[in-house]
Order: sequence, then C-alpha cells, then structure tokens
Amino acid sequence: MLTTPALDDVRAARLEHPGLTWGLVPTMGALHDGHLALVRRARTENDRVGVSIFVNPIQFNRREDLAAYPRQVARDCELLAAEGVDLVWTPAEEDVYPPGFQTYVTVEEITRPLEGAARPGHFRGVATVVAKLFNVFQPTRAYFGQKDAQQVAVIRQMVRDLAFPLEVVVCPIVREADGLAMSSRNALLGPDERRAATVLVRALRAAEAEWARGQRAGEHLRAAMRAVLDAEPLARVDYVSAADPLTLREIDGEASSALLSLAVFIGGVRLIDNLVLGPAAG
Ligand code: PAF
Repeated sequence: MLTTPALDDVRAARLEHPGLTWGLVPTMGALHDGHLALVRRARTENDRVGVSIFVNPIQFNRREDLAAYPRQVARDCELLAAEGVDLVWTPAEEDVYPPGFQTYVTVEEITRPLEGAARPGHFRGVATVVAKLFNVFQPTRAYFGQKDAQQVAVIRQMVRDLAFPLEVVVCPIVREADGLAMSSRNALLGPDERRAATVLVRALRAAEAEWARGQRAGEHLRAAMRAVLDAEPLARVDYVSAADPLTLREIDGEASSALLSLAVFIGGVRLIDNLVLGPAAG
C-alpha cells in the first residue's frame, strides 16, 4: 500500500494503468467499521482502492470542533493496509489548499436546510474538498455513508451539475450493537454520554413505529422523535426533521416517504443520525 501526502504521487499511481477501475473512499480518518464497510464494498467493485485521510478545516464552522476532531493516522493506515487498500492520500492542509487558494464549490438549494442551516459554510467546505478529491483521484466510483444523508444528496447534486464522470455509491449506516450509528465523534463521548447517545436511534425508531401504525403527517413524526429526545437529560436538540427524501423540504402535511433526521448535542458532542421511510428507503 502506498501512503503519501503528495498529490503528484496520487496522480501518478492513478495514471499508471489508465484502464483500471478505481474506487475512492474519502474520509477524515479516525476510521471505524462504518468506513471499513465502504472500503470493503469498494474493494469488491474496483481493480484498485484509494482512500483519502484529511480533516478538512473548511467544513468545520466551530474552531473547537476542528481541534477536538480525533486524529490517528498511523492506526488508520494499519487498518487500511489490512483491508488491501492500494493507495492512501494523507495530505497536509497546504497540499489541498495551496497558498492563494480561492476556488470554492457552492451547491445551492439542497444545502440550505438541516446541517446547512445549523453549520453555515459546512457544505461549501465538503463540496470543495470532494470536488478536489475527485479531480486528484479521478475515481470510477466514490463511496459515501448514508449516515450523512444530506452530504450524500449534496454530492450527488454536484456530480450531476458538474458532470463528474463517476458513480456515487451510498452504503447503509453501520450501527453499534445498541443501535448507535458509528461515528468518529463517538470516541469523544464519556461513559454516561455514550449511554445517552442511543437516544438518537431510539427517537428515530419511535417515529418509525408511528409510521408503521399508519401515521404519515410530518408534524406527528417530528413530535414522536422530540418526545423521546426530551426525556433524555444529557441531550440538547439541534434539529429534528421529517423531510422529503429528494428535496429535503420539511413535510407539511402527509407524505408517502420521509427522511427522518436529527442532530443532537450529547454533552459537548454533536451527533447526527437518520432513517428513510417509505418507498425511498429502497
Ligand atoms: O464524510 C466525511 O468524512 C467528510 O465530510 C468527507 C466526505 C471526507 C469530506 O471531507
């Protein structure tokens, strides 16, 4: 496995055998089984697999969040080597954003609600770095987790709008035994917070149970999630949403499918989770 911070090395490796298919798994490191599921899927579908590890500063809107983000590149590389990854790009900030950098990608409407409203500038940072990764790796397929549902929607939109010649592959959320969605941020939770953090999936499942009982109204689904969250003293709700899975607009009346999503602070750690209901659940 080649591990390199140099953009030119990545380009060279990619161009060495132009006929081979490449899968790219973009990450910010602190890898967990959710990332490894993406890597394994990429491994089965491509001749070569590349992974990027880069904690992208421009997608963080809180300085303390960026500083606290877990970093463990050496361990990440061991895990990736064991998965048979071919190439890992570990750029420094100036390798991605050289001095004088001034080109950004802004996806418009779909970035405004949810994470976009809660974290101004976040998706501009994500779209910009992902566009750069696509240009550097030129992958055949790029792999993302459904856990970041809006990120997936934004990247799909960008790929369509800017005609990136690649396939976006979305993999299901990987959960701990108690249902907590895997996230690099889970490592920041203390023991009581870790226990409390299951409130996200419990809230989603409460709304799912309402859906199974035939409840289709957006407000009813949001209220079902809020009731569970309000009962957890360590949880502070950032947003609770029942939205159209394609447009991400909140469901006003009744709907035939819904993206339930939420962002909740458990102590100082902000966690997100989601669940798709109805035909869009695929
Ligand atoms: O999902 C992430 O880890 C990041 O947002 C990504 C896609 C690697 C861009 O920095």
